[in-house]
Amino acid sequence: MKSITSAITSVGGYVPETVLTNFDLEKMVDTNNEWIISRTGIKERRILKDKSLGTSFMAINAANKLLQEKDVDPTSIDLVIVSTATPDMPVSSTASFVATEIGASNAFGYDIQGACSGFLFGMSAACAHICSGRYRKVLLIGADKMSSIVDYEDRKTCVIFGDGAGAVLFEPNYEGYGLKDEILKVDGNGRNFLKIEAGGSMLPASNQTIENRQHFLQQDGRPVFKFAVSYMTEVITKLLKRNSLEKNEIDYVVPHQANKRILDAIARNLDLAPGKMLTNIEKYGNTTAATLPLLLWDNRKNFKKNEKLIFTAFGAGFTWGASYLTWAYNS
Ligand code: UT7
Repeated sequence: MKSITSAITSVGGYVPETVLTNFDLEKMVDTNNEWIISRTGIKERRILKDKSLGTSFMAINAANKLLQEKDVDPTSIDLVIVSTATPDMPVSSTASFVATEIGASNAFGYDIQGACSGFLFGMSAACAHICSGRYRKVLLIGADKMSSIVDYEDRKTCVIFGDGAGAVLFEPNYEGYGLKDEILKVDGNGRNFLKIEAGGSMLPASNQTIENRQHFLQQDGRPVFKFAVSYMTEVITKLLKRNSLEKNEIDYVVPHQANKRILDAIARNLDLAPGKMLTNIEKYGNTTAATLPLLLWDNRKNFKKNEKLIFTAFGAGFTWGASYLTWAYNS
């Protein structure tokens, strides 16, 4: 019997229409375009303006684009995984709603909360389901409505984040393409550096938590920056070594988009040739679980069969890791 690997066979993406520029933010908080561009690389981000719509709206749109792009029958999907830090509701998974709305009537589904590493962790789960031999089509979506948890009075965080969603379909592959290896990590000691304090079981919502603005995302940016650079560099280096990969053999690095300076530092550490580190942070900002699939969506026409991609991410938790995947088809 031929061994099964799990490969990406289709990609979808969606960002809302409303653009929030650095100049718009200048009118909201004490910041300026020069600071934001030079410290983060971000020029603008997309915001899901309609308050009645949640993360599922973007996830459904990204999934529908994927289904259309490769003419996939939604009833053939076995599993829908939504990686998100901003589910529609704390209880009742976003994945269940998305599956039903896209017509995936034969699928089961669940959410993954891995913050900015959610999509990377989701790739691991999706591929394990495929490689078990029991499931043939797993739809993995990374989606976040960061504007629902960002404090637009806090200049340290509100300039960074944006809303968006991306989706990939994983299917069995019998030629060895797809996910080859991964190193995935957590360190709970990091949880106070990047968090929402209230609204969970430890500190349920109250008038006091609302008054204290504890339902908004808080970040201690400088240490997070340092951990992000060193941990992502470390896991990529280990992953390359144990797969006997030279850096000039990598076609693309698909990194989480938190800060252009983080990406430049990793590229320098790895001595990567220019152009291999994919980036689109200038137009979307940090969309948390959506950054990796949105990079795939933006670059999908460029990937060729057997190209070698390294995915990497770092986020709240702390959570981080790197995965090695070969592209399975010519676009
Ligand atoms: O995606 C999940 C993981 N997250 C990350 O990887 C993010 C990692 N961290 C970062 O990307 C950066 O730390 C930030 C972009 C968040 C902040 O950039 P920084 O260069 O580390 O700035 P800082 O926090 O050290 O602040 C430097 C100065 C401060 O002023 P003082 O104390 O030196 O007078 C801040 O108050 O910049 C000030 N500042 C701003 N000034 C204008 C902070 N935010 C702003 C702002 N506009 N928006």
